[in-house]
Amino acid sequence: MGLKEAARQIKETANIVDVVAEHVNLRRSGRNYIGLCPFHEDRKPSFVVSEERQIFHCFGCGAGGDVIAFYMKFHNLTFGEAVQELARRFGIPLSLEKIEPSSERRTALFELNEKAKRFYEHLLWGAKAGEEARAYLASRGLSEKTARLFGLGFAPTSFDSLTSHLRLAGADLALAAEAGLLVPREDGSFYDRFRNRLMFPIFDSNHRVAGFGGRILGDGEPKYLNTPETPVYHKGSILYGLAQTKGAIRAAGFGFVVEGYFDLLSLYDKGVKEVVATLGTALTPQQVRLLRGLAAEWYLVFDADEAGLKAALRAAPVFLNANLFPKVVVLPEGEDPDSFVCQAGAGSFYALREQAKDIFDFMLDLLSQRYPATPEGKLALFKELKPAFEALKDQMLLELQLVRVAERLKVSESALRAALKGVAKPVVGRSAPKEARSYSERTLVEFVIHYPEYLSDFLKLGLLRHLRDARLKALVEILSGFKDGCTPADLTLEDLELQALLSEILLSPPPFEEFPPERVAEEIKRWLARQEQKEKLVSLLEAIKEAEASGREEEALRLLRKYQELRCQC
Ligand code: CTP
Ligand code: MN
Repeated sequence: MGLKEAARQIKETANIVDVVAEHVNLRRSGRNYIGLCPFHEDRKPSFVVSEERQIFHCFGCGAGGDVIAFYMKFHNLTFGEAVQELARRFGIPLSLEKIEPSSERRTALFELNEKAKRFYEHLLWGAKAGEEARAYLASRGLSEKTARLFGLGFAPTSFDSLTSHLRLAGADLALAAEAGLLVPREDGSFYDRFRNRLMFPIFDSNHRVAGFGGRILGDGEPKYLNTPETPVYHKGSILYGLAQTKGAIRAAGFGFVVEGYFDLLSLYDKGVKEVVATLGTALTPQQVRLLRGLAAEWYLVFDADEAGLKAALRAAPVFLNANLFPKVVVLPEGEDPDSFVCQAGAGSFYALREQAKDIFDFMLDLLSQRYPATPEGKLALFKELKPAFEALKDQMLLELQLVRVAERLKVSESALRAALKGVAKPVVGRSAPKEARSYSERTLVEFVIHYPEYLSDFLKLGLLRHLRDARLKALVEILSGFKDGCTPADLTLEDLELQALLSEILLSPPPFEEFPPERVAEEIKRWLARQEQKEKLVSLLEAIKEAEASGREEEALRLLRKYQELRCQC
């Protein structure tokens, strides 16, 4: 089966609402579902999914299309890759020669990672070699159940255990090096990247092994070794544990963000399942968008020290930019989430949530310890908060925070406002700039898309000739190629721009909704006929001028009479 046919079957099988809901928090709104757009920093839900039509559209940034378009955009895939992955998920057979090389390679990398994961697991649970690692897990208080759920494994000390395992299995070692599992030597041979380490597979949101983190057993350097960036592992867009915890987060409506693999595993093991971990790096906008798709209430777990302050100062703008207002859970001094939950239990951890601080308060508390209460100190302090204020998009929240910060710093609000000059902008939607389009052309196309039964009449009256906008014209040309009974929603458009245009029109109300469509259609037909006459008039006028200029007076007179006749009809 070819890509086109597979795409058609995917669209018959997959429900776009389910596929989108894996990544975006949707709620029902009338006949559609709405949510915050995952493709831009959305302030209010402008992202609409129609179950009926199986399309999505964002009225903020203009992204839109069918389930395949969503998948392409969300996972940054080509059409072929998206079709292949969706076909796999929905059990639709796809012939191999149709698969794109890049997609084939990605699949191969995932497969190698999966092989490695199974090998490491086998060594952890089944072999003598894993004894020490099992003892280490036990010493950290982690149950076998949790360790197995997260696919933990063990990479032994030798330089060639995975290498020879893969070689025996007939795997492509160069590809395994590309997956970050092996390291090439100058002589062309390979050795294991991960040695004497407890292995944490890192899953993507489709539950495939994208990479690994490996913790040294006991002391040693580096403590953690991670998969480098590969075609399937981008640490800025993955969150550790998400594949296993997203259900719990969604159900609870909130989640905790911690920093370490062990923090996440311990929390999960002790019963706090609403948690994700960063991979030891600052949260990226992409990761925050993933979080936003799961829940609205997020708790960052930080230490009340310089490191915690730094992390909060970095994280605040990223969250606020995505319209999430995170809270901060502060742990007792010297504790991390892992040590705290092992000692105090899940109940105490959840109790910390009750006392979570507003992220501005958290930053202020720590900043006011760092800076003296002098004018210079206050100025320097406020400078640190500026990026967070600048990211605060909600005018109301901005005002409220300004009042609170002014109070705490004992500075007038107007002074702060002046310092933020240019920040306290009026609330206006940040919709993407739209190119100027001819309104009447657009209305015509909107109408035929909502009422395709009038298309052939309009085409006879020269609709296509009236469309100067190339995209509108392309859309109508595609529609006109369809037989009766086929609606625009059945189209597979590989052109994402046209898909977006089509979905936008389909999800907007039809033009002149308040009138019966047959009346509007009559009016449009008259308008089209008039347009045709106008064109004739223009060319007649030109012919008259030409005749006069070349002294053909009689002909000019004849044309003039014709012109007047035609004018009267308009
Ligand atoms: N990290 C890393 N490379 C390092 C150190 C840390 O990638 N050399 C990342 C890991 O994702 C780690 C996280 O940063 O989980 C937090 O680091 P740390 O607190 O040192 O590790 P823990 O997960 O707490 O591990 P442990 O409790 O075993 O010390
Ligand atoms: Mn730790």
